[in-house]
Amino acid sequence: MTRLVIASNRVAIPHRRGAAQGGLATGLLEALDRHGGLWFGWNGRISENPDSAPTLQMEGSLRFALTALTHQEFEGYYVGFANRCLWPVFHAQLHLLHYDRTAFETYLAVNERWARMLGGQIRPGDLIWIHDYHLIPLAGFLRDQGVRAPLGFFLHTPFPGIDLLRALPSQTEILERLLAYDLIGFQTPLDCQSFFRSVAFFLPEAQLSADGIRFRGRLIRVAPFPIGIDVDEVARVARAGHQNRHSRRLVTSLSGRRLILGIDRLDYSKGLALRFQAYARLLEQWAEFRRQIVLLQIAPLSRTEVPEYGVIRRELNEIVGDIHARYAEYDWMPLRYLTRGFPRSTILGFLRQAAIGLITPLRDGMNLVAKEFVAAQPEESPGVLILSSLAGAAQDLEEALIVNPYDTGTVARTLAEALVMGLDERRERWRALMDRLRKRDLHHWTRSFLETLAGIRTHSAP
Ligand code: G6P
Repeated sequence: MTRLVIASNRVAIPHRRGAAQGGLATGLLEALDRHGGLWFGWNGRISENPDSAPTLQMEGSLRFALTALTHQEFEGYYVGFANRCLWPVFHAQLHLLHYDRTAFETYLAVNERWARMLGGQIRPGDLIWIHDYHLIPLAGFLRDQGVRAPLGFFLHTPFPGIDLLRALPSQTEILERLLAYDLIGFQTPLDCQSFFRSVAFFLPEAQLSADGIRFRGRLIRVAPFPIGIDVDEVARVARAGHQNRHSRRLVTSLSGRRLILGIDRLDYSKGLALRFQAYARLLEQWAEFRRQIVLLQIAPLSRTEVPEYGVIRRELNEIVGDIHARYAEYDWMPLRYLTRGFPRSTILGFLRQAAIGLITPLRDGMNLVAKEFVAAQPEESPGVLILSSLAGAAQDLEEALIVNPYDTGTVARTLAEALVMGLDERRERWRALMDRLRKRDLHHWTRSFLETLAGIRTHSAP
């Protein structure tokens, strides 16, 4: 069978602290297990003298090839360009864009160094699947290493429209470097459209057609591949998690109050400040719900080295303090805000318990928590999903209550509506959502991307 070679900034080594966790990681590991091959990326460490070859590590039948970053690489490539330029632009937060030419050059240099390391691991016939915005330039550098196999890229974040991209210095070079891939996958049809429009605007010599983009004599396929979840696995882990010590403690602590739950990395793109403001409006205008509900927001700290994440953290502390000062009673706290993470089984157990999943990012590639909330719910009495129209998942989950996260008045009203929604309507919406989740699950995602990539290889074989 063809080997699969995955490359991404974070590598999901099973059972390793700090490694990417969750359904997506599980899906990719399964694909890796099926195909053999290896997963290449950052080992999460800083070292001033990274070896010129990656360190190989075996975990059962899975192979990983890992490398460290120097301090200067971490600052320029990861903090500076990936997370202070690409991330805010791709998430429509232009006021947080901090461009620095040196950081961009370091971003390119890391991709070039990684291509030299990865090039040595690739064998003819391998399927090569590169992930996310950290590694946009990898394809071109792999070609310089003599790699001839088709190269697939999947962007986990949204792709920005022309007006956003215009603000990113080096945007034309970023687009040209993306076009060195043979297959580019996005989360949603809208992201594909934004990409097509941007290519037409910034690279007028490119020709757009139904099957992709012709650029400098090559055809680049572009298509949406919306990520799904493993529905049965989520349901099973949620049922088990629901029985664990943490879930039982949560039930006891609620004393019959209904749980509204948000789970997000602590990131400014997740819309937590506006979410809390919407919740405060609910408490203000629908006083009958006071003491009857609790909003639990779990927001594990993320990217603490990036200055903007410190700013949002302080802002949230202040908003949470205001809400407590205003509405808390000596025997009821309306909002529980935690900046630590929990094991996946506990998170899924909590999701099963929630009457409302409140997922209101300002922009999100997909948002798998929204999908996990649905799959974790009990069939007898499912809860209600309130979902931002600006998350990719909203294009997949029509029967959720879809809200604009900037319209806090409507989010508050939708919360009030969800709190009184009858069982029949909740069941009807939940069943329809579950059908959608099953049709396009995680296996469908990996299979359809890899089959398309393999098809390109067959196509271009001599
Ligand atoms: C998003 C990105 C991933 C990234 C994750 C965590 O989901 O699409 O590529 O790994 O955030 O962020 P971090 O910077 O900690 O890797």
